[in-house]
Amino acid sequence: MPSLQEQIQAYEQEINAFNPAGAAELEQYRIRFLGAKGIVKTLGAEIKNVPAEGRKEAGMQLNGFKQLAEARYQEFAHMSGDTNDSNTDTDISMPGTPLPIGTRHPLRMVENEIVSIFERIGFSVATGPEIEDDWHNFTSLNMPEHHTARDMQDTFYVSQQPDWVLRTHTSSVQARILETQPLPVRVICPGRVYRNETISARAHCFFHQCEGLYVDKNVSFADLKQTLYYFVTEMFGPDTKVRFRPSYFPFTEPSAEMDISCTVCGGSGCSLCKHTGWVEILGCGMVHPNMLRNFGIDPDVYTGFAFGMGVERITQVKYQVNDLRLYSQNDVRFLRQFQKL
Ligand code: PHE
Repeated sequence: MPSLQEQIQAYEQEINAFNPAGAAELEQYRIRFLGAKGIVKTLGAEIKNVPAEGRKEAGMQLNGFKQLAEARYQEFAHMSGDTNDSNTDTDISMPGTPLPIGTRHPLRMVENEIVSIFERIGFSVATGPEIEDDWHNFTSLNMPEHHTARDMQDTFYVSQQPDWVLRTHTSSVQARILETQPLPVRVICPGRVYRNETISARAHCFFHQCEGLYVDKNVSFADLKQTLYYFVTEMFGPDTKVRFRPSYFPFTEPSAEMDISCTVCGGSGCSLCKHTGWVEILGCGMVHPNMLRNFGIDPDVYTGFAFGMGVERITQVKYQVNDLRLYSQNDVRFLRQFQKL
């Protein structure tokens, strides 16, 4: 029978060599050495068999042994919840590898901002199809078949379906709203539109618009001006000036184009405003009585205003993007610049 001292030495070797692969081995170790019937307890009980003169030394040895067994356990205690025994190299407390997070497209961010500005004053979002029929894109908007105003927009036609076009503006959504919604209506309609243009820094075959429409009793041009003025102040800041120039759209009468004071030079003249101090940002007007009639609405009872803006244009003015092609080239160096906005 080996002496108590010899037993302790043998167990100490075992403990020092102990290197568990996972929670299960650690638990076995705990039961074997530190459990209620474990080795530490059993050896402790043997002290009474040690002759009195060696008892003190044996006690100290036992104490050291107990501390070693516990310390070794503590060294691996972090594994105790780890059920994957083969995973000893994983330190789950280490910070993870960051995944690169994408950013929203600048056009989408600006569109969201436009929409939220109008939502705050009671407009709700409406959308319509991008492949549109002639009635909703042109005819119902007071642009009959041979109306010269159709030349204002170079149209993509769908060859198999002579009545179909890729919508040239979001005013088609106005038509669909007036056709289906009970009055009053107050909607903002964001969406993609298409025109047969050669792609360059200043023109593209597709772009994005945001249309607004408000039809109710007693809607006046003053309401239109104040609504757009509110929009400009929210979007470009309270110091931005606004001016309206008379214009022509077949579906509004009177019609206007709205300019704002240049956001880059503040009005003193630069390349964005072509040294005029003003940049055009949208078209607008009072809904033409013919258009209301097209949808069975009596223009003597109801009036309304409409406006349409290009999202690329607003983004250009706000963030000085000077080439339209950048929006669809998917160059992450361009897109990442908008990460913090
Ligand atoms: N649809 C016009 C365009 O694409 C913009 C507009 C919308 C003008 C609504 C007036 C009213 O140019």
